[in-house]
Amino acid sequence: MSKYIVALDSGTTGNKAIAFDLQGNIAAYSYTEFPQIFPKSGWVEQNPYDILNSALKVLKDVIEKVGVENVLALGITNQRETTILWDKETGEPLYNAIVWQCRRSAEICERLSDNKNMIKDKTGLFLDPYFSATKVIWLNENIEKVRNLISKGNVLLGTVDSWLLYNLTSDKLHLTDITNASRTMFFNINTLDYDRDLLKLFEIPDYILPEVKPSGANFGVIDKKYFGKEIPITAVIGDQQSALFAHGGWREGLIKNTYGTGLFLMTSTKNNIFKSNNLISTVAWQIEDDVEYALEGSVFIGGSLVQWLRDNLNLIEKSPDIEHIAANVENSNGVYIVPAFSGIGAPYWDHSARGVIIGITRGTTKEHIARAALEAIAFQVKDIFEELRKDTKIEFKTLSVDGGASENRLLLQIQADMLGLSVEKTTVKESTAFGAAALAGIVAGVWDKSDILKIREIEYIFNPDKDYHYYQKSYKVWKEAVKRSLGWGS
Ligand code: G3P
Repeated sequence: MSKYIVALDSGTTGNKAIAFDLQGNIAAYSYTEFPQIFPKSGWVEQNPYDILNSALKVLKDVIEKVGVENVLALGITNQRETTILWDKETGEPLYNAIVWQCRRSAEICERLSDNKNMIKDKTGLFLDPYFSATKVIWLNENIEKVRNLISKGNVLLGTVDSWLLYNLTSDKLHLTDITNASRTMFFNINTLDYDRDLLKLFEIPDYILPEVKPSGANFGVIDKKYFGKEIPITAVIGDQQSALFAHGGWREGLIKNTYGTGLFLMTSTKNNIFKSNNLISTVAWQIEDDVEYALEGSVFIGGSLVQWLRDNLNLIEKSPDIEHIAANVENSNGVYIVPAFSGIGAPYWDHSARGVIIGITRGTTKEHIARAALEAIAFQVKDIFEELRKDTKIEFKTLSVDGGASENRLLLQIQADMLGLSVEKTTVKESTAFGAAALAGIVAGVWDKSDILKIREIEYIFNPDKDYHYYQKSYKVWKEAVKRSLGWGS
C-alpha cells in the first residue's frame, strides 16, 4: 500500500491540500477559496474561521482519498505576517485576521520611524505595515476587547500557522516556526529569540507569543476527532521559504521567484545574515540546529495586477487570457503600469506610493495595456534581481520560477529578455506545497535532501532572445515611471 506526505498550503486567497506519494507525485489535491474582507480602502481582513474551516475541508478531501492510515506526516505552509489574536480561555478570535496586505497601520509606522534602523538591524525587516508588529499595536489601540483581555493575561497571538496548529492539535498547542516568527518584527534574527527591546517598544506582553520551533520539528498531532486517527505534524514553514526549499534552495547561487498574488524573490545566504539596504534579511528555515538565512524581495502586486484588469476593468475574462491578448502586439507601445495599489514594497518601500499608468496615446489599445501589465510584473522582478545581485555579488545563471503566472510562457520569455538570464520552470507543479511536504518527509525519515533534488526535473527553459536590447532600454523608462508613483498618496 502506498504511503503519503500531506501538505497544507494555507495561502492568501485559499487553502490547498496535496497528498504526495513517496516519489513526489501528486496523489490527491483539493483547493478552496475563502472570502477577502475589505472594510475600507487599503484594509484587508479574513475571518479566522473561514481560514480554519476551508483548511479542514481540503484536508478532509485529500486524506479521505488516500486513506488516513496511509498518511505518514503533515507539513503546513502558510501566508506569512497575517495576524490573529484569540481568547486564551475560549479560543474565540478577538477580531478578524489582519492580512499582510493591509495598510491600516501606516500611521503607526510613521510614529515609530525614529526606530527604523534599530528595527532593521534586529529583525532584518523594514518598518512597514506589511509585518505583524504594527498590526498588533493597531489592535491593542483600537479594539477595546483586545485591550481588556491583554491586560487580564488572556490573549494568544499567532500568525496563520499558529492559529491552525492551535485548532488542529489535540493539546491546543501554541507554537510557530522560526520562518513565521522572523516576519513578525518582534523576533530578533541575530539572537534567534523574541526581542525584549522591541516587545517593550511595541507594548506587546511576551505571554501572548507562541513558542518558536525549527521549521522541521515535531509540532504535535492532528486531533483524531478530525480524521479518525492522529497525524503527526512534522514541518511548518512560511510559504516563500517553502517554495525556495522545493527548488533545492540550499544550493549555492540558486534564486527563485514565485509569481503569486505578489512576487517573492529569494536566495539562501546559508548561515550568514546579509545586510541589505533595500531587501529583507530573513530566516530561510531551520532543521535541527542548522539555521539558514535568506535575502528576499517582496513585491506586493504581481498576479493581482492581472486580477485587477479582469475584475475592475473587465479587460479580460479569465486571468490566463492575458497571454493571448498581450501576444497580439510586439510591445506595450510606450505604456508603463506601476501597480503601487497599496504603496510599493521592495526595493522602494514607500507606503504612500500609488498606481500609475503612463504613456497612453490615442493609439493605445487593450493589447498594449495587457502587455504593459506583464512587463510591469517582469520589471518588478528585475528591480529585485538587480538588488540581490548587488548585495550578494553572485552572478546568478538562472532564475527558477513557480506560482500561477509561471504558466504564462510569454511572461517568462519577457522575463528572460529583461534579465538577460535563463528562466527555468520545473515539473514540480505545486512548489509551495511541495516544500512543506519535503521538509515534513525529511523529518519523518522517508526522504533526504538528495531525494528532493531527484524529484525536481526541468520542464522548460527560456533564454534571452531578440527583445533583450529593447528591454535594457525600456527598463530605464520603467524607473522613471516608478518615480512618478512615489509619494503620490501622501
Ligand atoms: O508575505 C506574504 C506571502 O507569504 C503571501 O504569499 O502566496 O499567499 O500570496 P501568497
